[in-house]
Amino acid sequence: MASDASLPASGTRWPAITKPRSDWNVVPNLVDYDRTRAAFSWENARRDLDGLPGGRGLNIAHEAVDRHAAGRLATRVAIRWLSKDGQRRELTYADLREGTSRFANVLQALGIGNGDIVAALAGRIPELYIAALGTIKNGSVFTPLFSAFGPEPIQTRINIAKARVLVTTPALYQKKVEALRGSLPSLEHVLLVGAGASFAGTRDLAALMAGADSQFVIPPTDPNDVALLHFTSGTTGKPKGAVHVHEAVVAHHATARFALDFHDDDIFWCTADPGWITGTSYGIIAPLTHGLTSIVDEADFDAERWYTILEKERVTVWYTAPTAIRMLIRTGAAAARARDFRSLRFLSSVGEPLNPEAVRWGVEAFGRPFHDNWWQTETGGIMIANFAASEVRPGSMGRPLPGIDAAIVRRVDNRIEVIDEPGIQGELALKPGWPSMFRAYLSDDVRYRRCFADGYYLTGDLARRDSDGYYWFVGRADDVIKSSGHLIGPFEVESVLVEHPAVAEAGVIGKPDPIALEIVKAFVALKPGFEPSETLRRELLAFTRVRLGAAVAPKELDFRPSIPKNRAGKIMRRLLKARELGLPEGDTSTLEAS
Ligand code: PRX
Repeated sequence: MASDASLPASGTRWPAITKPRSDWNVVPNLVDYDRTRAAFSWENARRDLDGLPGGRGLNIAHEAVDRHAAGRLATRVAIRWLSKDGQRRELTYADLREGTSRFANVLQALGIGNGDIVAALAGRIPELYIAALGTIKNGSVFTPLFSAFGPEPIQTRINIAKARVLVTTPALYQKKVEALRGSLPSLEHVLLVGAGASFAGTRDLAALMAGADSQFVIPPTDPNDVALLHFTSGTTGKPKGAVHVHEAVVAHHATARFALDFHDDDIFWCTADPGWITGTSYGIIAPLTHGLTSIVDEADFDAERWYTILEKERVTVWYTAPTAIRMLIRTGAAAARARDFRSLRFLSSVGEPLNPEAVRWGVEAFGRPFHDNWWQTETGGIMIANFAASEVRPGSMGRPLPGIDAAIVRRVDNRIEVIDEPGIQGELALKPGWPSMFRAYLSDDVRYRRCFADGYYLTGDLARRDSDGYYWFVGRADDVIKSSGHLIGPFEVESVLVEHPAVAEAGVIGKPDPIALEIVKAFVALKPGFEPSETLRRELLAFTRVRLGAAVAPKELDFRPSIPKNRAGKIMRRLLKARELGLPEGDTSTLEAS
């Protein structure tokens, strides 16, 4: 029986959703939570994978592609691609092996090898998947750039990564990269996908692929060789490149089995874009290591289109995000109930808090609850989840996966204290040791080391644990913004705003939004000689949109005579937010007199 300590922060307690065994049409992978946890070891989990032939190490692309292509799954569809304009293209595991081998050979021919960084800027097109896995196959490092980024975030990330290759489309190149080319010193090769205009200093990927050998022997790969570089944001400073290694595949594989309940023959749809880590860990790698068929939809969200995909493609396991679920809720459950979702077995969600209403709405619309799970770019894979066979507690992120030890802690100077008592809010911390743990922030050791104390990795999230071991998200400990599931660093936005000639200072916050969770809101103080006006407000919004892209730019902007700062000159975003929301201002004793 749950005690009072199991109350979430809001104090509301939605009834848990229990799922009778009679509802199981396949037996879930994780039935006995305690026993599985007790018996689990990462060493054993490693045995579910092959390793490179001849004991030459562990390579993600071998586990995801080549080993299946060499066996009974060769002709199984690995990726079923649905284009924006209604085309359908299927890549079997054998096709994927050939495509990724050709891509790896293209890299070899360009002199790109072990540890070299290959960036991709593309929508959800098959070539993106081929480039990602072909890069990894070659022992190079794949770094995705979200296609809705503007030139500024693209430039920053390519330069931090020191990427040597960029794979993109002619349209994205022209719109976002061409003008920057002179300020991307590391970038040697731009490979364009798809026919169209040719640009100076670019190559046609299709032609290179056609001329490349279709066979490729994966070079020896140490499990600790770097495979992926994923950018994420903090409150201050530049984006951080979280470094992930080939061994991460052990966690991708095992966590998908537990938290997404993958079974043979599943048709899986992860709606996340590979520009973000969910779209690579679970949109590319995990379903392939399990030999499943993945749906890849090129188009943006559209409720009717999504219902058609779920129904007609007979999706069995669906991994999506709260913003999308809230958009579906807005269209009403009737539209969902009119469809035949008999194939759909497991619904899951990640990336932002999932409202208890949304969990229950799953039952109303699909006959099944959404299973919330939690993780971060840094953790590389799912850490906490509501499982298929366990009761779902609406509003809770669930319980730590086998192999994952979580705790609620309090920072005291440079040390931490573990809070054992249930119900008490603190920072969510994890004991390092799982294979998909990030190994560094690229070229930023100080920031990396700051994430650890007393044998724990500190997540920057505030949470509480109930007396049954379920974790409840409370909020972020820092000022990063979550908008439509995307993590945005306020500093990146402020830095662009202050480059406008009219702007003296800028402060950026996440303003609560019923659909997107938060929207980016900017406050600016103008330089002498400039007056606030509607025209200037629009100009500033347009300026940031062009530079940062739609995914990152502010949606709202207000003028202020000054931006509150503390005596150390740090922008007090919390105060800006409190004032915006009419909340108590808290401790303002360090506020700089203005
Ligand atoms: O604040 C947490 C929130 O998203 C952050 C991680 O974002 P990102 O690095 O972009 O990771 C993407 C992969 C999921 C977390 O620190 N977050 C993630 N999942 C949840 C969540 N907040 C509440 N509930 C969740 N289930």
